[in-house]
Amino acid sequence: MKSIKILAVESSCDETAVAVVENGKTILSSVVATQIDVHKDFGGVIPEVASRIHIENISIVLEEALKKANVTMEDIDAVAVTQGPGLVGCLHVGVQAAKTLAWAFHKPLVPVHHIAGHIFANTFIAELQFPLLALVVSGGHTELVYMKDEWDFEILGTTQDDAIGEAGDKVGRVLGLPYPGGVYVDKLAKEGQPVYKLAKPKTEGEMDFSFSGLKSSVLQFIDRSKRTNQPFIPADLAASYQETALDALFARARVALTKYQPKQMVLAGGVAANSRLRAKVNEELKREYPTTEFIIPPLSCCTDNAAMIAAAGYVAYCHGVRADLSLTADPGMDLES
Ligand code: KG4
Ligand code: ZN
Repeated sequence: MKSIKILAVESSCDETAVAVVENGKTILSSVVATQIDVHKDFGGVIPEVASRIHIENISIVLEEALKKANVTMEDIDAVAVTQGPGLVGCLHVGVQAAKTLAWAFHKPLVPVHHIAGHIFANTFIAELQFPLLALVVSGGHTELVYMKDEWDFEILGTTQDDAIGEAGDKVGRVLGLPYPGGVYVDKLAKEGQPVYKLAKPKTEGEMDFSFSGLKSSVLQFIDRSKRTNQPFIPADLAASYQETALDALFARARVALTKYQPKQMVLAGGVAANSRLRAKVNEELKREYPTTEFIIPPLSCCTDNAAMIAAAGYVAYCHGVRADLSLTADPGMDLES
């Protein structure tokens, strides 16, 4: 069988990434230029700044990815790119780069949904089995995605307001932690106990999510403590926030696991790097659902990268997904269509 090499471009948020992956499985190179240090100074991603840095970085990252993979564009079978969702100005940079490559080197162009990429990051550590349930937890998304088959996505539940990563970043900021806050809330929570009572997320759908009420509850807790001059223990507040958020997340995941009984459940997205979330999957879900196999991606595959876009791009390519040069960034791209 001829090997298929996909070159993928990802620029949906604050990482400029290019990867070359063979047959959707073997990473020949995966280069990520992160902008975290720049956005740290602002306490969050400034879209205008992010897209400008993508423009500065994209050709350097591309060159390095080809060099590391020891290939030239002639060896590439298709160019995959994150079409959406994400920040529109950021997405445009990747899409334009991918279109230029596809046009100049006469390669097929494969548009990829960013969340499909996060889900397929798991192919680097396991053979995906269907039906599959994906718990997608990132800076922009909190979703339960059911996949009957390898290119069939059904969103069972989504957030009514904030994504879990977004809420964690905000909580980190009000606790005076660096950007991205969620990473540091995770670290701080290890030193604390979940002793403070915070508002439990309430949702209409039994598989939907909501994190803005919990986030406000943390803000109000800090305000009250300042007003009443009653100091609190930041590590305990971090642990209380994290436990409440994860309990809500797991309650919804349990509904889906019971209802759909998937062969596998995979974690996907940046928040899948959370140490408490990973521990809870191992300690609780594995025991409660013995017929489901739980896949936890390695930390390097959780946050944004282009290898995951290449992995999803390979499956899309095999399913005949193609775009022509009229392809444009789609910041609100739908996973199901
Ligand atoms: O998937 P990702 O890189 O970007 C999006 O597609 O949104 O996810 C980034 C998010 C940020 O909100 C970041 O704070 C969160 O993932 N994150 C974490 C951890 N590592 C990254 N949240 C909690 N605990 C972590 N260890
Ligand atoms: Zn992402």
